[in-house]
Amino acid sequence: MKGIFITFEGPEGSGKSTHALRLIRHLKAKGYDPLLVREPGTTRLGEMIRKILLKSASVKIGPFGEMMLFEAARCQLTDEIIRPALKSGKVVISDRYYDATTAYQGGGSGVKISFINKLNLEATRGLKPDLTLLLDIDTNTGLRRAKGVKGFDRMEEKSRSYHRRVRRAYLDLAKREPKRIKVIKVRGTINETQGLVRRAVEEFIK
Ligand code: TYD
Repeated sequence: MKGIFITFEGPEGSGKSTHALRLIRHLKAKGYDPLLVREPGTTRLGEMIRKILLKSASVKIGPFGEMMLFEAARCQLTDEIIRPALKSGKVVISDRYYDATTAYQGGGSGVKISFINKLNLEATRGLKPDLTLLLDIDTNTGLRRAKGVKGFDRMEEKSRSYHRRVRRAYLDLAKREPKRIKVIKVRGTINETQGLVRRAVEEFIK
């Protein structure tokens, strides 16, 4: 693999999507040819799964089925888009990847972590992000922002304690893999946070 694989993670309302887009713009200006993807989504299958997972409030989905749907979307995205792009030397930026399953379905819903690790490994066939930017925000502030932006989706509707566990699980992951996962505290303006994002990426590329 010749490319670079960067992922954005974080609890609800942390602003990952905004920062991923701005980072793409910045990298283009620097002469790179970056590709932005999102999870679940981007492929046709992934976008269909995304609708089921996020927009179908009245459909019952248990924790196990929910996890399998996220994994199915991930597998398709990895094979169809991410691997070929990395092979051709692109910088691939993904708005969420397998850490989200560990944090949400593991930390949030309580699915066994050893099982999630196995599924993540199969779905990605061992592909790991080179760098993960974890945008960390306090749960209440994040949920307030998420609600303000476009109302709650099916995942955001889950309880406050669920979202607290998600945040904790993300921070635990960062402690376990400090080399790959850089925690960026979302405190200041968008520009200030974007500055921290760019610095982390530039340090990595160097
Ligand atoms: P999100 O990335 O927050 O997109 P938007 O900014 O458009 O709301 O939406 C994805 C949702 O899916 C989010 O609630 C986290 C959840 N999710 C999981 O629970 N597990 C996963 O493995 C992934 C990739 C996402």
